[in-house]
Amino acid sequence: MQSILGNISKEDFLKNYWQKKPLVIRGAFPDFEMPFTPEELAGLACDTDAPSRIVSENGFEPKHSLNSKQWDSKQSPFTDEDFTSLPDTHWTLLVNDLERYIPELGNIIEQFRFIPDWRIDDVMVSYAPDQGSVGPHTDQYDVFLIQGQGKRHWKIITRDDYPTQLINGPSLAILKEFKADEEYLLEAGDMIYLPPNMPHYGIAEGECFTFSVGFRAPDSTDLIQNWVDSTFTKTERYSDAGRTLQSSSGEISRNDIQKLSQLMLSKIQEQQGNLSIFLGKHLTQSKGETPVDEDLLASLSFNPKEEYQRESWLRFAFTEDKEENTVHFFADGHHVKLKSKNLNAVKELCENYVYGAETLQALATNKAFKSLFTLLIREGGISLAG
Ligand code: SIN
Ligand code: CO
Repeated sequence: MQSILGNISKEDFLKNYWQKKPLVIRGAFPDFEMPFTPEELAGLACDTDAPSRIVSENGFEPKHSLNSKQWDSKQSPFTDEDFTSLPDTHWTLLVNDLERYIPELGNIIEQFRFIPDWRIDDVMVSYAPDQGSVGPHTDQYDVFLIQGQGKRHWKIITRDDYPTQLINGPSLAILKEFKADEEYLLEAGDMIYLPPNMPHYGIAEGECFTFSVGFRAPDSTDLIQNWVDSTFTKTERYSDAGRTLQSSSGEISRNDIQKLSQLMLSKIQEQQGNLSIFLGKHLTQSKGETPVDEDLLASLSFNPKEEYQRESWLRFAFTEDKEENTVHFFADGHHVKLKSKNLNAVKELCENYVYGAETLQALATNKAFKSLFTLLIREGGISLAG
């Protein structure tokens, strides 16, 4: 398959477009085949835990109702009734984390692995009848929007000085004013890349499916909170033996501020060396639960002489420590430290989804790796290949 970036090289894309400029690629997925029908997608939204939303431009009340309002959304879980009561036009069904439920979508994600795996979030799909849209909005992350079936008219604002005021409405951040400066009609197989925070407005022209490959950009507060919660388990209390008398009981003295700050900073310094371990664990942690048969999985064991495969939702990553001559392997929030001679085997694990006995046998001589792999089998992320 040719590159999804058309005649733009991956290097050129990363240098000139990624996080900077939008890009339309005609025929990025020339042989795109829809893996489901609208009915099957609605079934998935009703019958699984896949996070889903319906966005309707004219609300959900019957048209004649006085309460009928503008843009509104409903979250899953859904029942058949939620779908049968929808109008013929002007609504959209969106389903996130789709790769967990439709494994073939791993083939789409594969095309984006010139960006590291930890940056890739999920595949979302939207289904819309004619004129369906989620309204003009911005997203805080990079996104590639692939037209799966039908046509979508995209309007985007590329300038920075656009009006940011939102319409008053529940649960949706829709821009009140939207004057596009670029417009594109995307047909099946076409793709548009949008950098973070670029206002966009996509309207279905006829029945339409759009797939979004979204990226993760962790925010500092979230990272710090998770770092503290997971790592700062050994706590220490402030103490002040030898305190001298202070003139005002209301003052938090310079000296006390300094001691308190030191108490905090010393803990941060203590853990700083482990930041890369925390990040590896945090960034491979999967976000949702995949339904599994617990009894069956508990009975499974790991035989390194067999060939195994990884589910596309199971995140693997590694970091290298050249000073220590070690390689750290991370899988779904777990961590194993290995000798650097295992680097190639670990790279193979992270880059591929099917593993031969040779790779696994070499790694399984490490006890911690063996028990981690057994755990991953029992969590349902790894299974016998074939
Ligand atoms: C859609 O697929 O309708 C919306 C996707 C987006 O705008 O982010
Ligand atoms: Co968007």
